[in-house]
Amino acid sequence: MIPLLRHLCPSARTIPAIVSQNPRITTYPHHRVPNFEFKRTIMASREVKTSLIDFMRGHPSTELLATSEMLAAANAVLGSPDLPQDSYDEDRHPLHYGPDLGNISFRRELGIWSAIRYGLKSPTPPEMINLTSGASNGLSKALELFTNPIGGYTRRAFILTPVYFLACPIFQDAGFSNLLTAIPLTSCGTSLDFPTLISHLNSSSSSSPQPSLESAISPVKSSIPKPLYRHVLYCVPTFSNPTGTTLSLSSRTQLVKLAREHDILLITDDVYDFLDYQNSPSKQQHNTPAIKRLVDIDRELGVNPGEKGNTLSNCSFSKILGPGVRCGWVEGATGVLADAMGRSGANHSGGTPCQFSSTIIHRLLIEGNGGRRVIDDVIGNICTAYRRRAELLKDAIGRYWPEGTEVQGGDGGVFCMGQVGGWV
Ligand SMILES: Cc1ncc(COP(=O)(O)O)c(C=O)c1O
Repeated sequence: MIPLLRHLCPSARTIPAIVSQNPRITTYPHHRVPNFEFKRTIMASREVKTSLIDFMRGHPSTELLATSEMLAAANAVLGSPDLPQDSYDEDRHPLHYGPDLGNISFRRELGIWSAIRYGLKSPTPPEMINLTSGASNGLSKALELFTNPIGGYTRRAFILTPVYFLACPIFQDAGFSNLLTAIPLTSCGTSLDFPTLISHLNSSSSSSPQPSLESAISPVKSSIPKPLYRHVLYCVPTFSNPTGTTLSLSSRTQLVKLAREHDILLITDDVYDFLDYQNSPSKQQHNTPAIKRLVDIDRELGVNPGEKGNTLSNCSFSKILGPGVRCGWVEGATGVLADAMGRSGANHSGGTPCQFSSTIIHRLLIEGNGGRRVIDDVIGNICTAYRRRAELLKDAIGRYWPEGTEVQGGDGGVFCMGQVGGWV
C-alpha cells in the first residue's frame, strides 16, 4: 500500500474544512505524535533492508503474486502439442507473433469474465477489446493514435488531480507538455470541479481557428482512418491512485455527457476496479453491483457501431496477477478504437504486445469445475489480504498519528490517502 503521497495532492490547506463534512473520511483523535522527519527519511531510502514497509511504492507483495497459478497455466499451455503454430484463423502459440488485437478466444473469454464482474447483461464482444502490455502502454498508444496536439487538432488534455503521477510523463511524451490542465477532484473524491472544466472547454473551443480533421490527419495519414479527438481527459475513477476514492455515478454520467458535447476522449485507468474489498469474488454473492464504468455509460447513452464513442476503459492484469505479466486491455464503447489500436503500425508488425503472457493468462479465465475461475480465487485472496491491511493501517494511523489526521480510501484498490495538518 502507498497510503501517503503528499507530493500528489492539490492545495492541502483547502482540504480539511471541506473533508470534515464527508462521512467517508475518518478523522482520528490525537494520541501520540511520531517523528515524521525520521520516518520519512527511512521510508524513502532504498538502501534500508529491514522489515519497514516502503510507503512510497504501490507494488504488491511477492507472496500475493499469482506465481503458482501462472506456473500451472504456463506448463499446461507450453506443454500442449495441439496449439496451432502460426494460424490466421485460430489462436496462435504463445511463442509466435500474436494477432494484431490479440488471440480471439482470449478476448472472447475476457469479455465474458469482465462482464460478469461488472454485472453487465451480456458479454462484451471481443471486437471491442484490444490487448496491450498494460495500462501504461494502453494510455501511451491511445494518446499516440487518437490525439494530435502537435498538429493543433487536439486542443488540450485534462487530468483529474491528485493524479497517478506517472501518467504525466506519458502525456508529455505524446506532446502535451504545454497543453496539460489539472482539474481538481472535489475533496471527498466523488466528483470534480466541473465549472473549471467547462470554462476551459468553452475557451478552448472559442480560441484561434481550429485545423480541420483532414489537415490534422495528413502528417499521420495511414491506410486506416484515425479517430482523433479535440480533447482528452484522463482519470482513475474507481479506488483511485492516489486518493483511494471513487467517482459517483452522477459525476461519471455528467462527464460522459460533457465528453459527447465537446469531443473529448475520456481515458479511464480502470486498473483497481476488481479489487473491491466488499464485493470480492471470495464472497458467494455480490452485495452491491459494481459501479458503472464510463465506457458502459457511454454505451447506454447510445453509440452506433461505426462511431468512435467518447470513452476508453484502460485495464490491466498488473494489479491482479502481478505487474511483471505486462498484459492489459483497452475496451471502447464500440469496436472502432480497439480496431484502430490493434491495426496500428507496431501491433501490425509485432502482433499483440502481450502474446506470451495473454496466452497463459487465458487459462486462468476459463471456467473450471464448479463454475469457478482461477482468476476469481486469486482476486478473492488479494482482497482478503488488502482488506485486513487497510484495517491495520487505519488503526495504526488512529493510534500513532496526530489529532485531526484524516484518511480516505481503504475500501478497495491499494491506496489510502491521509492528511496531517498542512501536508499529505
Ligand atoms: C492508475 C494506474 N494506472 C496505471 C498503472 C500502471 O499499470 P500497468 O502496470 O498496467 O502499466 C498504475 C500502477 O501503479 C496505476 O496506479
